[in-house]
Amino acid sequence: METTWWKQGVVYQIYPRSFMDSNGDGIGDLQGIISKVPYLKELGVDIVWLSPVYESPNDDNGYDISNYRDIMKEFGTLADMDELLATLHNAGIKLIMDLVINHTSDEHPWFIEARSSKNNPYRDYYIWKKGKDGLPPSNWGGCFGGSAWEYDEATDEYYLHLFSKKQPDLNWNSENARAEIYNMVKWWLDKGIDGFRLDAINSISKDMEILEKLPEGEPSVWAGTFINNRPMVHEVLRELNEKVISKYDVMTVGETPGVSPKDSLLYCAPERKELNMIFQFELMDLDSEDGCKWKTKPWSLDKFKEITTKWQDGLYNKGWNSLYLNNHDQPRMVSRFGNDKQYRNKSAKLLATLLHTLQGTPYIYQGEELGMTNVAFETISEYRDIDTLNAYNEMVNEKGMAVEDVMNAIHTKSRDNARTPMQWDGSKNAGFTVGMPWMGVNPNYTEINAHNEMSNPDSIFNYYKKLIKLRKKYPIIVEGKYSFLENYASPLFGYIREYSGQTMLVILNFSQNSTNMPEPETKTLNTEEYKLLISNYSQEEMQKDILKPYEARVYITSK
Ligand code: GLC
Ligand code: CA
Repeated sequence: METTWWKQGVVYQIYPRSFMDSNGDGIGDLQGIISKVPYLKELGVDIVWLSPVYESPNDDNGYDISNYRDIMKEFGTLADMDELLATLHNAGIKLIMDLVINHTSDEHPWFIEARSSKNNPYRDYYIWKKGKDGLPPSNWGGCFGGSAWEYDEATDEYYLHLFSKKQPDLNWNSENARAEIYNMVKWWLDKGIDGFRLDAINSISKDMEILEKLPEGEPSVWAGTFINNRPMVHEVLRELNEKVISKYDVMTVGETPGVSPKDSLLYCAPERKELNMIFQFELMDLDSEDGCKWKTKPWSLDKFKEITTKWQDGLYNKGWNSLYLNNHDQPRMVSRFGNDKQYRNKSAKLLATLLHTLQGTPYIYQGEELGMTNVAFETISEYRDIDTLNAYNEMVNEKGMAVEDVMNAIHTKSRDNARTPMQWDGSKNAGFTVGMPWMGVNPNYTEINAHNEMSNPDSIFNYYKKLIKLRKKYPIIVEGKYSFLENYASPLFGYIREYSGQTMLVILNFSQNSTNMPEPETKTLNTEEYKLLISNYSQEEMQKDILKPYEARVYITSK
């Protein structure tokens, strides 16, 4: 398979609202990002993924777009955007944007037109249905609670919204809507951006058949369950690729919950000409009960290893993996899969070792490289995320659940865990803003911040720098074939990568206890010939046959 920049590169995701505020209004902005390009350069990342910066009323923090061709006032202007792109390019960093084309904001002019009358030329840009006996057209639920259908009085019909009611779903059956979206995509690519992360992309498959039938399940099951991954999504993606994307040297990554490795190849096998890679969700679902994210349960390392192996094996030489353990929708990975107390430094490095030694493109979410943790605000009034606020309302006010239990679930799972401001230094508001931040800073910023991390040679930040450099130096990290090692039983996770006569061995101890090193009896392992490439303990601290708490080691043979 051809190796390109998006396979070799490391992506860094920026959530603009929380990254850096340049003008003291408490909200991160484009000039703030520009001021931190040297920081990104120092870390060594190759590609920045920017969460949405388009004009938006911010019902869902920019994932509800009211104008695709302009920048949200709070973030800056199109001129700032051009400047950001040029500054990144000068630093040798590429830029991909979030492309939200499953839905728009209800404040987008298309929707304002569409809802004005049934005969309006924009009516069919969205999905409209008659109600049934005073009820919505089907019992589908929205992703953020409530029905997926919203009644529109003016025209006495309901419109479909898989997410909030301020995010009406676009109708991809409409030729006109498709053409306008392709033009918009082209407009951005002509500005010189380097690709897209396609938001909720597998939900666009609302073909005529499903809209006719409207199949129902249990009341308020998420509408996406019935809609996602239907064949139509592939037709659209191929058309988008053929008409626009294929004309540029850009990368695409699709957000696709509910996809198996086999299904994923329908999206990312190169001969299909759809996307370069997708985000799968199987690891993100490990700690939820009954598919409900707020019902938490402990995650199992055995399952984690099984899923990882399934994706590594399933896509080898056929597609390409994206590697992530957190983003703007997920809790912080060190709090979720590591230990954010005593072993924060070690476990954050262990998880980083995993992400940067599997096959695929690693994605770093802002602050991950500092080992930023989940936050636990005391009251719901300190939270900002629509998903969290709606869930609180539903669980406490409608279902009468105990506030304490609900707050515990929010502390574990809220998307705001990832969205507290970036912790730059130990000064007021973590150096994120001189004003009043739009959401509180995690109180642990006095200890956990970029300034401390950059000045400490043993820091998580400096460990990420090393991992990123190794990727540049050793093609085996990009190319090597993965094999799972059975004899590294949990709490250990062991695997090898093999490429052109060379072998890399990765050993991870996912435990706060010391654990014996197994006899490397399988494969051809003989630790004597393996040279240590990187570890999160120093040579002096390391013991030959014992792995310390959250110890991670990577060995490599000479060719
Ligand atoms: C995606 C985004 C999420 C957003 C949703 C609706 O899942 O990552 O942040 O709320 O789509 O656009
Ligand atoms: Ca600002």
